[in-house]
Amino acid sequence: MDADIERVLLDRETIRRRVQELGREIAQVYGNPGENRLDERAGVTLLPILSGSIIFLADLIRELPLMMKLAFVHISSYPGRSTESQPHRTLLELTGDVAGRHVLIVDDILDSGRTLPIVQDAVRQRGPASLRTCVLLRKRGKAPAKLKVDFVGFEIDDLFVVGYGLDFDDLYRNYPHIGVLRAELMS
Ligand code: IMP
Ligand code: MG
Repeated sequence: MDADIERVLLDRETIRRRVQELGREIAQVYGNPGENRLDERAGVTLLPILSGSIIFLADLIRELPLMMKLAFVHISSYPGRSTESQPHRTLLELTGDVAGRHVLIVDDILDSGRTLPIVQDAVRQRGPASLRTCVLLRKRGKAPAKLKVDFVGFEIDDLFVVGYGLDFDDLYRNYPHIGVLRAELMS
């Protein structure tokens, strides 16, 4: 795997420290809802967008001193690869309860900003008590400025990155750092 990575952009220790800070930032915003089971409904529901956010999610929730639940959303292009004759359609599957809950969407990376509004709208339609979004990475200047996210781990340049859950062709998710893939592997 190492041989396929051109350079490490964020090493695992840098990521670990930032995820710890993010946990604190998030806990501050939510105050201290759900300190025990009786105020369970005041707690937060994290909604990871599968599959890229799983490693970030696993680390983040262990830095969150809050009562919390999980729901999951999977979004995919259908059918298979989109072509010009076969327009891009998306299939969204949401499992778990978000109605009446304080929902925090968790995603790995905000790039062009096509995916996130689809998930945000799907959650809004289900009537959450509140809705916020957290992304680990955001590519500078790519998503429309009006696309609002509440928590951002790192702003990065417009590069294709893999590792820490992020994939290329479903590979490299287990690379422990976030690295730039060698360009020739993507052609
Ligand atoms: P967007 O809809 O263009 O914002 O992209 C959303 C999704 O594309 C992300 O959640 C990732 O799954 C994927 N993606 C975008 N950029 C990268 C990257 O640099 N590496 C790996 N996946 C990416
Ligand atoms: Mg994704």
